[in-house]
Amino acid sequence: MDMGGVVLLLYLLLFLLSCIFFRKHKRKSHQQKAKLPPGSMGWPYIGDTLQLYTKNPNVFFAAKQKRYGEILKSHILGCPCVMVASPEAIRFVLVTQAHLFKPTYPKSKEQMIGSSALFFHQGDYHTRLRKLVQGSLSLDPIRKLISNIEALAVSTLESWAADAHVVVNTFHEMKKFSFEVGILAIFGSLDEYHKEKLKKNYIMVDKGYNSFPINIPGTPYYKAVLARKRLNQILSEIISERKERRVVEKGLLGCLMNSKDKEGNNLTDNQIADNIIGVLFAAQDTTASVLTWILKYLHDDPKLLETVKAEHKAIYESNVEGKKPLTWAQTRSMVYTHKVILESLRMASIISFTFREAVADVEYKGYLIPKGWKVMPLFRNIHHDPGFFPDPQKFDPSRFEVSPKPNTFMPFGNGVHACPGNELAKLEMFILIHHLLTKFRWDVVGSQSGIQYCPFPVPHHGLPAKFWKLESGSQRQHGCPP
Ligand code: HEM
Repeated sequence: MDMGGVVLLLYLLLFLLSCIFFRKHKRKSHQQKAKLPPGSMGWPYIGDTLQLYTKNPNVFFAAKQKRYGEILKSHILGCPCVMVASPEAIRFVLVTQAHLFKPTYPKSKEQMIGSSALFFHQGDYHTRLRKLVQGSLSLDPIRKLISNIEALAVSTLESWAADAHVVVNTFHEMKKFSFEVGILAIFGSLDEYHKEKLKKNYIMVDKGYNSFPINIPGTPYYKAVLARKRLNQILSEIISERKERRVVEKGLLGCLMNSKDKEGNNLTDNQIADNIIGVLFAAQDTTASVLTWILKYLHDDPKLLETVKAEHKAIYESNVEGKKPLTWAQTRSMVYTHKVILESLRMASIISFTFREAVADVEYKGYLIPKGWKVMPLFRNIHHDPGFFPDPQKFDPSRFEVSPKPNTFMPFGNGVHACPGNELAKLEMFILIHHLLTKFRWDVVGSQSGIQYCPFPVPHHGLPAKFWKLESGSQRQHGCPP
């Protein structure tokens, strides 16, 4: 190498060294300003994952919070993460600085639902899709669904009570009900042929979604991937049939089909399919597990049950012994039932936490949340904090006579990704509870304590129960099957 080459090499080396020094220095100066939150990263790779999914979440989170405070570091599912456990910190992540924290899901789950589903996105695409979903699930369109939801609730309850000796898995049955309501809100009316095909394949996707993601023939995950492809075909078929009919479509599907972006482009069939599957996923297990908890809380507390029953009996009688259909105004007048629903959402906190990912280094109260780290707002902690909800383990609907302090009650999340389906979820609960309490009774079978994760917390074994129908005018009391 001649002299010129040596000089060039030296220059290059110098340049590289200065880059390294500069990067290190830059990082150091950032870290000098803000340090990582306190906490323990647990075992390598596994971190706190096992504890998170095996320990009672109340105990696990409360112990961590007590030791480290409102913001702490941990290691979940192979990722470093920061848990935030105060109303203020959660608001920072989900509301005021939401643009710095993007939603994040395991890749396998994103593939299964479809990457165009709104909740995987931030920014313009998310805003556009959210408006469509929110619009189709707002009060005006859902009030038109009452009579259809009523028919679904009655036929569901009749099927459970068809044989009073048969033990029903309450959670599984509630899933069937919330699926049907989801289909109704999405498609309006849907022919039996397409509905059955959707249901069959959706059940396979649902099974695979919660299984270990190994994509080899025979595994539930593999079957789910195939079923997910079939769902796209079925949805494309429905979309082209509806395009041919040329009627203004109602429901979420209609909104998605009619939407145009600034350049006048429609959503593609795949984008529509991903959002429909996404909404079904968001709607089904959540509503079903809360309904299952409500049945358990009512069953376990005869005094509570009598108070709720009295509210529904008055409506039933004003509807000529249930001969007239429920009205929207009546569902809005179920004031005590509403408090029971809110208290069930608080107690069960079925969405204990959610995940975000920092898109840049973010500083919160002098602590650094490094770019790429996961951030977990812990809703359950807030819902079970005696400072916000005195005697938090007590089921007490009367606590909702006064509104909770701002940002302390978040069963439906908060900010730009907060649940657009919350009113529909509550409406289906009001209607199902009304018919259950006025025409049926149930008894829980077997062990009545314990929680199972499916993946949301659900009473053990999905709350096995026997249901039976009251003869009209019957005075038979709760807990006495025929
Ligand atoms: C009791 C029942 C329900 C509960 C507890 C619940 C809870 C939640 C929560 C906590 C979030 C926010 C998640 C996050 O920030 O990461 C959410 C989002 C969402 N929920 Fe619900 N949900 C329920 C029912 C429903 C129903 C019935 C639908 C639709 C028919 C629905 C559709 C959605 C959608 C589409 C999102 C994503 C919104 C977005 O990313 O902009 N949910 N839900």
